[in-house]
Amino acid sequence: MSGKVSRRAGAVDPFIVMDVMAAAAEKEAAGDTVIHLEVGQPSTPAPKGALAAAHAALDADRIGYVAALGMPALRARIARHYRDAYGVEVSAERVIVTTGSSGGFPLAFLTSFDAGERVALAAPGYPAYRNILAALNLEAVDLPTSAADRFQPTVAALEKAGPIAGLIVASPSNPTGTMVTKPELAALAAWCDRRGVRMISDEIYHGIVYDGHATSAVEVSDSAIVVNSFSKYFSMTGWRVGWLVVPPDLVRPIERLAQNFFISVPTLSQHAALAAFECRDELDGHVQRYRTNRDLLMAGLPAVGLDRLAPADGAFYLYADVAHLTNDSREFCRRMLAETGVATTPGIDFDRARGAGTLRISFAGSTAEMEEAVRRLKAWRR
Ligand SMILES: Cc1ncc(COP(=O)(O)O)c(C=O)c1O
Repeated sequence: MSGKVSRRAGAVDPFIVMDVMAAAAEKEAAGDTVIHLEVGQPSTPAPKGALAAAHAALDADRIGYVAALGMPALRARIARHYRDAYGVEVSAERVIVTTGSSGGFPLAFLTSFDAGERVALAAPGYPAYRNILAALNLEAVDLPTSAADRFQPTVAALEKAGPIAGLIVASPSNPTGTMVTKPELAALAAWCDRRGVRMISDEIYHGIVYDGHATSAVEVSDSAIVVNSFSKYFSMTGWRVGWLVVPPDLVRPIERLAQNFFISVPTLSQHAALAAFECRDELDGHVQRYRTNRDLLMAGLPAVGLDRLAPADGAFYLYADVAHLTNDSREFCRRMLAETGVATTPGIDFDRARGAGTLRISFAGSTAEMEEAVRRLKAWRR
């Protein structure tokens, strides 16, 4: 006999990349070297200043609970970041510290939407959006995108989506690295405002930008919710700290939820995150390396048949159309890993309808690893 399992739990898909990671670990255990182009995180630790602040906090602080909305000093520092980086005044009261951006999504979704409502999002896109929506009895509505619209939602696509309560935008996007322009984001925000649709802007890859300016939703909207994190630019994935910027009327509802769900965000991580803002040189150095890696792959991959690459403006991913090479990206990635030791992520994680013909290549590793990956793939395709 087994106990009851909810329907909503059954609605959540597994993360296929985890299977790739398991196969890669097996290969490594057998003594082979694997080039990890499947990972979605920086290969570097937290910046030195953040580590020093964490050490100091361990010595000086009790590391107890703190306020559910975050340490006041960190909220104020994040607010200042909006003035420095975007030229927009954001009050510290609107900033809510969360357990990674992942902890921000349920708070944003639960305070914006009622069960059964429909939320639009780009396909391909980060799979957790749809899975968290499903777990909350919300319906994800795919907006199929293409290279022509830089894999971003458009007003025209929204017009065809039917009634929706929300829109998720991610720029730069995972898995494509492509961005929306400021006028496009403003048009999406205006469309949402006219219809009482809540826009949620995932800005987790801001700071990792190669071409153009990553526009924050706070520049173009008073009603959008911004989601961000210390995981990517700040290189602090395992510290589990992120933030939201929300309209004033959502602060108290989110506070009530956060108090009950989480009590507070890890205190040690908040000390470290505060210091990370003063580590720009080290962090910008990582972005330089990502840029070198991106350029190296963009130049090297076409020679191995991977010549249909999304134009990555930011983040550390290349999204490759491989439909001319396979109609089963999962099998293609499995074979590539087995025969070359280069691990990549099949597109089905990001686009259930069309991902059998795509894969994602992460260039968050070292430049030497990118060179080795291109060398191995050239030998494979010969
Ligand atoms: C687009 C996007 N949003 C959110 C997240 C979640 O990151 P975290 O919870 O570490 O902030 C990720 C992680 O890969 C991501 O790619």
